[in-house]
Amino acid sequence: MYETLHLLNQRRSIRSFEQRPIEAEQLRLLKEATLRAPSAGNMILYSIIEVHDPAKKEQLAEICDNQMMITKAPLVWVFLADMQKWVNYFKESGAVDHAMQQKDIPFRKPGLGDLHLCMQDAIVAAQNAVVAAQALGLGSCYIGDVIERFEDLRQLLDLKQYTIPACMLIFGYPKGKQQATKLTPRCPASSVFMLDTYAEPHLPDMERAYQEHEQDRRRMQGLPYDNTGTLADYYYLRKHTSTFMQEMNRSVQVMFESWCDG
Ligand SMILES: Cc1cc2nc3c(=O)[nH]c(=O)nc-3n(C[C@H](O)[C@H](O)[C@H](O)COP(=O)(O)O)c2cc1C
Repeated sequence: MYETLHLLNQRRSIRSFEQRPIEAEQLRLLKEATLRAPSAGNMILYSIIEVHDPAKKEQLAEICDNQMMITKAPLVWVFLADMQKWVNYFKESGAVDHAMQQKDIPFRKPGLGDLHLCMQDAIVAAQNAVVAAQALGLGSCYIGDVIERFEDLRQLLDLKQYTIPACMLIFGYPKGKQQATKLTPRCPASSVFMLDTYAEPHLPDMERAYQEHEQDRRRMQGLPYDNTGTLADYYYLRKHTSTFMQEMNRSVQVMFESWCDG
């Protein structure tokens, strides 16, 4: 019983891989476990594009803020929120016409609610893949930057109106002793779990919650203003006001508009 908890508690992101492909049986098991993830209405509102083509991997790495480790990852999965397949099914099966003729129900275009549900489906499946990979002795890492440069990604993967990236994972056999390194810190449970109502965190709560994160960064001389700054300074400068976050916000706006308006 505790084996699974041990697995979950030892998981870490792996960014460097041995240069050998995933064994066929392991890949089959990884896909099987991914597909066993819960799914809204069991509609499986996602698709996964396995990117093999080295030239495509190169372009994908560039799109993802030049994270070149992507080109070296033996397995690359882009998870799409996918309502396109259902729109096609509804239309091509005649379900849309039947509803109109028999019940006077006009076609409803997918909206933001559909999009959110597809995203939930895709991300739930991705996390199944992460856990399954760990069980199979594989390492994995999410690549959040897959939501940047949407127009380029759309062209690269030939995406349609109702297919947009939800998340991305790279997998492989961990290189070296990455599994033995110290785990990254987490906030204490009391700072995340709230009871019955939202308890808005303010400065003292945040300082307490992220104490360990801040100490780690200070130890690594990684805080701004010659290491005299706080974790808030670090994230505000490194992430919140960065050009990649600006790009991510622009790109996601385009992505959502394209879903809603074509
Ligand atoms: C949504 C999401 C996006 C992420 N994007 C990236 C990424 O683009 N590049 C990367 O190296 N790690 C990425 N990560 C991994 C995080 O940096 C990592 O989970 C975090 O630092 C905690 O470390 P751990 O996973 O080893 O516990 C991402 C993780 C998540 C959940």
